[in-house]
Amino acid sequence: MNPRKKFHPDLPETTLYAYGTSEATASSPGPTLVATRGNESYVRWENHLNDTQHFLTVDHTIHWANPKTGGVPIVTHLHGGEVLSESDGYPDAWYTSSGELGPSFTTQNYTYANSQPAALLWYHDHTVGITRLNMLAGMNGMYVVKSPGEEPANLPSGEFERLIVVQDKQFHADGAVNFPTVGVSPGVHPSWCPEYYGDTIILNGKAWPFMTVYPTAYRFRMVNAANARYFVMTLSDPRLRFYQIGTDGGYLHMPLNLTMLTMGPAERLDFLVDFSTVQPGTVAYLNNSGNAPYPDGDPAVGLTTVMLKFNVVAAPENSTLPPFDLPATQVLSPMVNISTDGAIVRRMTLTEYDDGNENPTGSLLNGLRWRDPLTETPELNTTEVWEIINLTEDAHPIHLHLVSFLVKSQQAFDAVRQTAYNCSFYVAYPDPMSCFTEPPQEPELHHLGWKDTATVYPGKITKFVVRWATQSGQQFSFDATSGPGYVWHCHILDHEDNDMMRPLKMMAANS
Ligand code: C2O
Ligand code: CU
Repeated sequence: MNPRKKFHPDLPETTLYAYGTSEATASSPGPTLVATRGNESYVRWENHLNDTQHFLTVDHTIHWANPKTGGVPIVTHLHGGEVLSESDGYPDAWYTSSGELGPSFTTQNYTYANSQPAALLWYHDHTVGITRLNMLAGMNGMYVVKSPGEEPANLPSGEFERLIVVQDKQFHADGAVNFPTVGVSPGVHPSWCPEYYGDTIILNGKAWPFMTVYPTAYRFRMVNAANARYFVMTLSDPRLRFYQIGTDGGYLHMPLNLTMLTMGPAERLDFLVDFSTVQPGTVAYLNNSGNAPYPDGDPAVGLTTVMLKFNVVAAPENSTLPPFDLPATQVLSPMVNISTDGAIVRRMTLTEYDDGNENPTGSLLNGLRWRDPLTETPELNTTEVWEIINLTEDAHPIHLHLVSFLVKSQQAFDAVRQTAYNCSFYVAYPDPMSCFTEPPQEPELHHLGWKDTATVYPGKITKFVVRWATQSGQQFSFDATSGPGYVWHCHILDHEDNDMMRPLKMMAANS
């Protein structure tokens, strides 16, 4: 029996594929797993999905797991985890409930080293060609790495700390998930569409959620688990601010006082909101104004503009609320500056192609498909600069497995279409032979800190500094060269599934 759940009291039950510790408790998001830095954890990921075929429409023209014996393949990735590749959820390491195994399967008993700094990670399905379907069906959950003694003191905790998975979904009147069954170019891909946007924002499995808050500070730790939607978040009451303290890979080195937060697919945000600046009785909203596609698509409308309603109420009598203590003067995380002297530079393009009638039929990294021969083979403990050249018209959230990286700069160039220029990316601005139209710009504030997923804007080159080692620069505590390897990809799941994903294999250090 597949799990069923009501996303709203007025909506009939929705059938899901979801994670749980038993079939009876499976839900979406799945259980939050909590790990402690320095202590390995072990998870056996079992597949109990017994449907003979997926309840969402699989597009068979896209390379996908395609088990001969039918069923619904799964494989689980810990997003942001420093993980042995055999436990990383390689897209071809899937398995079905009847025991059919993907070509790269080695085990379903995963080991997580938990050797990285405190951060909010998340787990989700990563099966080749149907990740977008398994995720929309509900297969995701949060994973917290705690590091006692290494985290700022006095952060809001207990009921004042909320972990939130954000998604968007669309429903049929009977409660079923509404996913397209006919593609934008059905002659090429019968059901694939370039981006799935739902018309309802779902927080922790609830449509139209509200939250009762006391006049004190709350800590919000969010993950964007949407297939394609960017959230550009503001607070409706100007007395309320965001104090961002963390990002994908853990704490920032200093808090940021902001009125707007942007969260692309798979990114995480850790921020405080101090409700003591408003009176009990105040109603406020967390609003979304992210265009879809981001950044230049259609404005958010209707059900996609409000994410969360806050009802501020007086503290219960005789209770003392914790005071607001912004860790401004505390060390959050050390500031990092990685030398790129002698670094290998990889220039990678992002492109889209269409059917000749302007209907998108897929996207590529460096013009290559998932099945093309391996090209990214970094050596352990080296530093590389990845210059990602976005030749498409939309932003792509680019994600690397295994490591966290730093966004160094972004720089606009003059040719959106690769065919149109006779300039060079190898010549620096302002030389007239250069493709660039400006000097390199600092990354945006929401790209500060350790990222595992970062936005590459259209018409820009974004530079990532990637050190193939732990955040502190140490070697991994496991052999990252073993097993099927890792991947890097666009985290718009409809892109990832239709070839915007490439293998990544670590090579031994050449000492
Ligand atoms: Cu969140 Cu490769 O995935
Ligand atoms: Cu993309």
